[in-house]
Amino acid sequence: MERHTSALALVLADQPDLPVHCVRPNAATKAADWFVRRFPGDVLYAVKANPHPTVLDAVYQAGVRWFDVASIAEIELIALRFDDATLAFMHPVKARSAIRRAYFDFGIRIFAVDSTEELAKIITETGGAKDLHLIVRVAVSSDYAQHKLSGKFGATGTEAVLLLREARAVADELGVSFHVGSQCMRPEAWRIAMDAVSDVIREAGVTIDIVDVGGGFPVAYPGLTPPPLEDYIAEIENAFEQMPVLENADLWCEPGRALCAEAGSHIVRVELRKGDALYLNDGAYGALFDAAHDGLVYPVKLLRETGSPRRPLRPFRLYGPTCDSIDVLQSTFMLPADISEGDYIEFGMTGAYGAALATKFNGFGEYIEAYVDDAPMMSVFGNAPKMPVRPRRTAQIINLA
Ligand SMILES: Cc1ncc(COP(=O)(O)O)c(C=O)c1O
Repeated sequence: MERHTSALALVLADQPDLPVHCVRPNAATKAADWFVRRFPGDVLYAVKANPHPTVLDAVYQAGVRWFDVASIAEIELIALRFDDATLAFMHPVKARSAIRRAYFDFGIRIFAVDSTEELAKIITETGGAKDLHLIVRVAVSSDYAQHKLSGKFGATGTEAVLLLREARAVADELGVSFHVGSQCMRPEAWRIAMDAVSDVIREAGVTIDIVDVGGGFPVAYPGLTPPPLEDYIAEIENAFEQMPVLENADLWCEPGRALCAEAGSHIVRVELRKGDALYLNDGAYGALFDAAHDGLVYPVKLLRETGSPRRPLRPFRLYGPTCDSIDVLQSTFMLPADISEGDYIEFGMTGAYGAALATKFNGFGEYIEAYVDDAPMMSVFGNAPKMPVRPRRTAQIINLA
């Protein structure tokens, strides 16, 4: 992979014909370091957010050794890369063959479930294993999240209570998990979720060894400035102390976006301008999926030689390269009024769910990859001081009777 001092330097040097996925490993290391030092428990990197080997190495370098994996391909990727990684198979619905391979070939013991049917599959396919760490995913509200995750997974009400009891009967260790939705803008979402999960635990009357507070930690995008991440940690820590779980219960989190969003940006070229419409060489089926389907607004920068005359900004509609008319970004983007064919635009903060979501539809989706050394366009980690790694906090013992 080539290395450049900045996205602009890359464009000036190469005039790339393909979109460029710019990787900033230092930004991923910084974000992971922040979590490892400040989160009072274990940090699992949610590989799906960005499985690029450079990003994996960057979070590993910061001390992350636990990984949330969702498929055999992700399991192979991590197991082959890091000898000392602990893998948690957190997809609530797994192929039987994937359960067998995870347990027998890769030694995975941590499995998520959100239904008694999936629990039965795990018991059967692991031959009634006695060393399982089963994590029951409970459905919680996604009200404060930009990207909702409440529609598909998570056991609710009585179903969750029964599942916890059934899982307790076969688990070596039993955990609860939830996901408040991605890019969650309010720290209290975790307290609300943890209170709801506590009610389920009390009703089930089971002992709990692990509390996994999921992902959802936000970064900054234009129009989406979250409160300081410290507030999220404080809210989680306080809520954990009130949970009816074992005194020595483990606390986990599974950030994806927060560890890698700042580690990527994406350079695209304008192939045509028609009035206020720009036709780009990447879009909804590529690394800009979230801007098209979720309305996410990325920061943008026109990559022109330093010292070029500054032009007033005006809003543009941005279209991707495929023949599909949904290949359009939801928001308009402010760019210099004289932008034209052949200009390059850099979208910042595309490290999470950017290139990871790209398809080959219409024959597009080929990227150049390059390291760049300049700072991310926005950062929630800023100049955060280095801190010693925090001691792990434990919850109170609460009488379950
Ligand atoms: C089970 C699970 N954990 C963690 C994550 C990462 O979430 P985020 O990127 O919002 O931190 C996801 C995202 O879909 C998920 O499904």
